[in-house]
Amino acid sequence: MNVTECLKTRRSIRRFKADPVDHSIIDSVVSSASYSPSWKNTQITRYIAVETPSLLSEIAEECVPDFNAKIIRQAPLLMAVTFVKGRCGYERDGSFSTKKGDRWRMFDAGISCQSFCLSAWDHGLGTVIMGIFDEDRISGLLGIPEDQELAALIAVGYPDINPGAPAKKAVKELLQYR
Ligand SMILES: Cc1cc2nc3c(=O)[nH]c(=O)nc-3n(C[C@H](O)[C@H](O)[C@H](O)COP(=O)(O)O)c2cc1C
Repeated sequence: MNVTECLKTRRSIRRFKADPVDHSIIDSVVSSASYSPSWKNTQITRYIAVETPSLLSEIAEECVPDFNAKIIRQAPLLMAVTFVKGRCGYERDGSFSTKKGDRWRMFDAGISCQSFCLSAWDHGLGTVIMGIFDEDRISGLLGIPEDQELAALIAVGYPDINPGAPAKKAVKELLQYR
């Protein structure tokens, strides 16, 4: 699959087959995502692959709204994407490099998430990024260290649905030349 095809055919997948996902495939997807650009090549993104049924059900039942619980209940794997704090957006002397302060860290985590989802799709895996969750409870459940912060959850599995693309804006609405 070429990049354009991958970008245009990836969809957020919210229903999965029960089939487990091989660790070798997840390793390969994370390896591809590690080639994402990052602030001064700081590579702050980290991944926790959650597959233990008791952990998955605790997250589904107690840490997310019902619309995300429905997804997590039938996903074989949930990727918790974190980033290392205190590196991205800073100068060596500890001051912020730009007016955006440390917001670049979510930018970098977002790039990693997109790379992860595209590489997963290239392996036939469906994904959906989820941004609505109880950050403190999940951080506690997964033992996310103090120097990291949970950025997003990504449900991962073989798609059991083939949704069409939602409406996307036309280029003329998105792009200006000056
Ligand atoms: C930062 C972010 C947060 C999101 N949070 C959720 C979420 O909590 N639950 C959900 O079902 N989808 C979530 N999505 C998926 C979007 O709804 C989806 O990408 C959008 O509707 C476009 O559909 P597509 O990915 O198939 O193009 C999120 C996507 C992003 C990028």
